[in-house]
Amino acid sequence: MSWLSSFWRSSIGGKVTMAVTGLMLFGFVVSHLLGNLQLLQGKDKINGYAKWLHDLGPMLWVMRIGLLAIFVLHVWTALRLSRANKNARPVAYAKPSTVQATMASRSMLLSGLSLLVFIIYHLLHFTLGVVSAEHHDLKLADAGGHDVYTMVTTAFSVPAIAIAYAAFQVVLFLHLSHGIQSMAQTIGLHHARYSPMIKTVSFLVALVIAGGNMLLALSVMLGLVGGAQ
Ligand code: HEM
Repeated sequence: MSWLSSFWRSSIGGKVTMAVTGLMLFGFVVSHLLGNLQLLQGKDKINGYAKWLHDLGPMLWVMRIGLLAIFVLHVWTALRLSRANKNARPVAYAKPSTVQATMASRSMLLSGLSLLVFIIYHLLHFTLGVVSAEHHDLKLADAGGHDVYTMVTTAFSVPAIAIAYAAFQVVLFLHLSHGIQSMAQTIGLHHARYSPMIKTVSFLVALVIAGGNMLLALSVMLGLVGGAQ
């Protein structure tokens, strides 16, 4: 196991860990969005999906624990790499404006930590029912305990909640648009000819994902989705 830990501690090992865990988290975000988009198809559709997920029983817990482990490794490695970068360059650049970095790349750690705050809030809200517990109670009020449709539409009909969710999607967009490019670079896709294309694809993929989540929150807030079905 010590070779694995030395690999993780190396600079390239850290980057590979970020790329692999990032790709897995990306897979989760895409499948979560595809599942949630069923909200637009009505109550039975999304509640049927939620019930199917919960009926996976122990398998669902294996997936949740796996996701948590991947997430912890992603954040932990990011913090380690950022500390190593700072230690390697104890004196800051004299002219930061001359350092080539996009707004997204400079704010990667900040956007990542902001997403962590969002995810903690999101889990306390929809999964654990600790904040705005009345929304979570609506999910459990249904005999089967899977009325995710009523929980989500009631939550997003509160403008402050819908706007907070929508605002976090801007952070998700910044994080993904740069993260996808970094991932491509780590796996060796950084030829001058392909870079502009990779940049455009990363931008569009991030826009579709963050835009899809935003669409869900705002369409409920604006009354386009929700209400009695
Ligand atoms: C408008 C957008 C979103 C909606 C409507 C939504 C909805 C939900 C719901 C209803 C649950 C609870 C499922 C259940 O226990 O029955 C959930 C769990 C979760 N969501 Fe979201 N979500 C959204 C965006 C996001 C984003 C952007 C992320 C990550 C960046 C995320 C990460 C998670 C995680 C990690 C869980 C826990 C999974 C589990 O309990 O198995 N969600 N979400």
